[in-house]
Amino acid sequence: MNFEFTEEQLMIRQAARDFAQNELKPGVIERDEHQKFPAEQIKKLGELGFLGMMASPEYGGSGMDTISYVLAMEELSKVDASASVVVSVNNSLVCYGLEKFGTEEQKQKYLVPLATGEKIGAFCLSEPEAGSDATSQHTTAIDMGDHYLLNGTKNWITNGNSASTYIVIAQTHPELKHKGINALIVEEGMPGFEVGPKENKLGIRGSDTHSLMFTDVKVPKENRIGEDGFGFTFAMKTLDGGRIGIASQALGIASGAYELALQYSKERTTFGKPISSHQAIQFKLADMATEIEAARLLCLRAAWLKDQGQPYGHAAAMAKVYASEVAMRVTVEAVQIHGGYGFVKEYHVERLMRDAKITQIYEGTSEIQRIVIAREILK
Ligand code: CAA
Ligand code: FAD
Repeated sequence: MNFEFTEEQLMIRQAARDFAQNELKPGVIERDEHQKFPAEQIKKLGELGFLGMMASPEYGGSGMDTISYVLAMEELSKVDASASVVVSVNNSLVCYGLEKFGTEEQKQKYLVPLATGEKIGAFCLSEPEAGSDATSQHTTAIDMGDHYLLNGTKNWITNGNSASTYIVIAQTHPELKHKGINALIVEEGMPGFEVGPKENKLGIRGSDTHSLMFTDVKVPKENRIGEDGFGFTFAMKTLDGGRIGIASQALGIASGAYELALQYSKERTTFGKPISSHQAIQFKLADMATEIEAARLLCLRAAWLKDQGQPYGHAAAMAKVYASEVAMRVTVEAVQIHGGYGFVKEYHVERLMRDAKITQIYEGTSEIQRIVIAREILK
């Protein structure tokens, strides 16, 4: 067993840390307040190779391992989870899905601009009536010979209005249930494709969340990913890796809040001494540090299993459920350690607390992660 990072992994972590401090931190409060998508910052992240971190250089990616991805996601999420969710979706749901399961033509046409950051992608599984219960897709993709006719609504789509390439999951053969579902690549501007209004959210307010409406959208047959009926398996396999991204996002939100609380506890004086000398505060910090370390190890283990080509779905689910619950606990305590100052925006911890909540909901709620873990340990 080796707990040391390679030189390259450490360099990537440092680059992400520098980017977060220098490019994401200025303006993060304002973007949160006004629900402003971090467009310029995402463009720069693309230029630095963070949007196609694990994609092969052959397709414009950076060819890094999943461990590096966890390290980068943690650093970016310490400062701006609205930006890091773009990195997570583009890398692990869109680029990964296309590289692993797409045809050579799909990779050249769609993966290359996504991996280089020239374009952004979106992954569209959830619907008004199908979130956790993802097999009950109401969006239909009727087989018309040379194309599919796509009809339906997708809900809560991250990058909904900023993406150019959308992977849309839809039902083709309802009688076959989940075995009749397909994954289709839909392009921005295809006739019949409309983007709904932006959601007004509790957290990750800079992220661009929209519903999408499809009315008789003609999607060419060559835009189907995998064999007919592969769409649900595609979504599940892709989400296994996505959950490592969101677990690392949760880890970053927790460690960002912890670092702020640790620093503040040394600066704030009450009763003639820094609050870090009060045992009640020390115990909070000790618990925060311990839980964050455990979450980090779970994220790294899931990433390591993926890099080794071993099964990693349940490890990713464990990392996600644990890290997201740690993110909630730690951010609440970070606000508490800041006292009244924690309740106002300029100290950052209230935003991290609001951002933490989504990590327990998207890419499978905590309850769904427990179902995935329980099925694995009981089988
Ligand atoms: N890999 C491969 N195949 C898988 C799989 C996996 N990880 N998980 C399930 N499957 C297969 C099963 O083997 C089964 O196939 P067979 O019938 O051929 O054996 C099929 O999928 C159906 O599986 P289940 O019988 O387990 O289906 P279920 O309905 O009982 O439960 C579920 C499935 C795990 C609850 C699934 O619906 C699920 O993960 N729900 C959560 C959805 C989700 O995570 N949405 C995230 C949307 S994206 C997002 O949120 C992005 C963002 O915010 C940024
Ligand atoms: P439901 O499935 O209705 O669940 C409601 C509650 O019931 C939850 O607590 C859930 O855990 C619980 N529950 C449901 N079934 C069970 C069960 N069997 N056992 C125990 N408890 C259960 N989706 C995408 O496809 N792409 C995206 O890019 C995307 N981005 C998102 C961004 C944001 C900001 C948000 C809020 C959501 C996003 N989602 C996205 C959707 C997200 O994945 C779903 O909201 C999530 O999967 C839960 O689905 P739901 O909201 O329909 O809740």
